[in-house]
Amino acid sequence: MRQTIIAGNWKMYKTVAESVDFVRQLLPRLEPFSNVERVVCPTFVALAPVADVLRGSAVKVGAQNVAFNKEGAYTSQIAPGMLQGLVEYVIIGHSEARKYLGETDEDINKKAKIALEYGLKPIIAVGESLETYEAGQTAAFVGGQVRAALSGISAEQMASIVIAYEPIWAIGTGKNASADLANQIISGAVRGTVRDLYGDAVAGALRIQYGGSVKPDNMADYMSQPDIDGALVGGASLKLDDFTKLVEAAAQVK
Ligand code: PGA
Repeated sequence: MRQTIIAGNWKMYKTVAESVDFVRQLLPRLEPFSNVERVVCPTFVALAPVADVLRGSAVKVGAQNVAFNKEGAYTSQIAPGMLQGLVEYVIIGHSEARKYLGETDEDINKKAKIALEYGLKPIIAVGESLETYEAGQTAAFVGGQVRAALSGISAEQMASIVIAYEPIWAIGTGKNASADLANQIISGAVRGTVRDLYGDAVAGALRIQYGGSVKPDNMADYMSQPDIDGALVGGASLKLDDFTKLVEAAAQVK
């Protein structure tokens, strides 16, 4: 039985004060839905005060990235040790980090490994561009990203990993992938690749989210799919009502 996980990726939105105010209001609204794992991923500077508000509650905190070195002369980077005690999850390989920060599959693999070493749980994002999708190469491309991201990660460590399938053409565009299509890629290219690498038990236990224009009105469709175990949500997670409705829909369907 895979517990549904909904994570709000706030990207570069909300100041520290706005983030704190938001989670104060969000917390009582999300509290009743205890069968769903609920995570918020604010910007780095808001992690500590948000973690203070949420400490002892069931709502968890995630970071939006992590460096792949333990420490050193890496101006602007945040080391995994700096996140310990503040977050449980860390998003790795988001398409915006791949695009704007030039992160490669190899970087993402290093980040996943060091995060695990520090007891942080990676949410590894994968997904194809519109060009790849239109060329009918999605499954091969996404399967390749999954393999690369997991290189050298043990079957035991897989228990701490979540994978988010986010087609780039569906992120922030309002053009979401249909629930059927998302389930097909998630079950074949993501879970299927993990099955090839680690076998049935690990693949069957792995939680896989869909991400890309998830909204309250399409959430139930995604959550009714057998291989979709939650969502990584950008835009809709910035609004109190929407975030609450997403979690409520997941709690009802799953
Ligand atoms: P979106 O973003 O929900 O705004 O499409 C999803 C994401 O980038 O994680």
